[in-house]
Amino acid sequence: MHKILVTGGCGYIGSHTIVDLIDNGFDVISADNLSNSSEEVLDGIETITGRRVKNYAIDLCDLEATEAMFREHSDLVGVIHFAALKHVGESVEQPIRYFRNNLNSLINVLDCMVRYEVPNIIFSSSCSVYGNASELPVTENTPLEEAESPYARTKQMGEHIIQDFSRRHPNHNNILLRYFNPAGAHESAKIGESPTTPASNLVPVITEAAIGKRKELVVFGDDYDTRDGSCIRDYIHVMDLANAHTKALQYVIAGKQEGPVEIFNLGIGEGVTVLEALNSFMAVTGEDLPYRVGPRRPGDVVAIYANYKKAADQLGWQPERDVNDIMRTSWAWEKVRSNAVKEA
Ligand code: NAD
Ligand code: WQD
Repeated sequence: MHKILVTGGCGYIGSHTIVDLIDNGFDVISADNLSNSSEEVLDGIETITGRRVKNYAIDLCDLEATEAMFREHSDLVGVIHFAALKHVGESVEQPIRYFRNNLNSLINVLDCMVRYEVPNIIFSSSCSVYGNASELPVTENTPLEEAESPYARTKQMGEHIIQDFSRRHPNHNNILLRYFNPAGAHESAKIGESPTTPASNLVPVITEAAIGKRKELVVFGDDYDTRDGSCIRDYIHVMDLANAHTKALQYVIAGKQEGPVEIFNLGIGEGVTVLEALNSFMAVTGEDLPYRVGPRRPGDVVAIYANYKKAADQLGWQPERDVNDIMRTSWAWEKVRSNAVKEA
């Protein structure tokens, strides 16, 4: 059984990916300092998969602790590196914290992979590396524009670090996955997005407004040059995204990688407007959603969505879910989460 280290394994995408990895026969350990998560998610993973995953609650910026973990697991075949701080607005307020955390953790992980001969890394990148993209849909060859935030710059820099690393270590396989807008939860509603910091992404804000955790949702602008005036994004279900990581690992382990660094866009290839997303939520759940239209949010791009043909052709990956599945599963998870809080 291939053993994989998932960094950020208690986080949102990491936890869903662990479920998909276990379902596909991988052995997994996690390293997560719980700065934006809790180990309760390991209970949910155990309920779904029947397996208890061990988490090392270490800060990956601590080289000694990171190395001790690698030393204990000399049989690792790969690392999926999710661990990072991810709030765009916060990164503008605290750029040094973002550079320190997101870059030092990556550098330490790469350093340990060399020392302990772990040959495969999958890195969480983001569509934010494209900035205000010059063409739609975005392909992996669309030029990267100026980063819109320190967060996005940590992703561009992370990609560059891995490019340079690969030139020195040609036997390593390096995959950069550029996620578009991940959302949704596992079908079982045993795991979902449960950050310890306040939600700011559209889908959790929708479910929180619908359940009454917040007074209303504000649509950030309806005067853009789009079909209904609101911004367009490519919302990808987190379980489809999770499965792309499994497929990427299977691809490198089978020796199919065509170059030292390969980049894949992960989206569903369709743009959805903010107002369409709200309508999908109301139609799928039958719930009311208190919302009003407000001003534009500074830094928002008007429209972005992916061309994912490369992932389909090379990884054999296809998204199977759409925005309605995202709303259905997010709502189921929000109800479970809110009840758990009420009962506590
Ligand atoms: P998340 O915050 O839920 O998960 C990240 C996890 O990493 C958290 O559990 C956190 O505690 C942990 N972590 C952070 N710094 C650490 C450190 N120094 N040492 C150990 N653990 C650390 O975020 P997510 O949504 O699951 O995102 C996972 C990855 O995907 C991140 O790299 C993020 O930048 C990237 N990404 C996310 C999105 C999105 O919208 N969710 C989109 C594109 C890319
Ligand atoms: C989606 C749309 C908002 C909240 C961010 C990062 C990106 C990636 C994904 C990490 C936009 C609108 C939102 C609300 C709204 N993350 N909106 N009211 O900004 O596309 O992408 O997350 O890598 O890098 O930038 O995602 O969910 O914040 O916004 O109208 O209360 O919903 O204006 O059009 P975004 P989002």
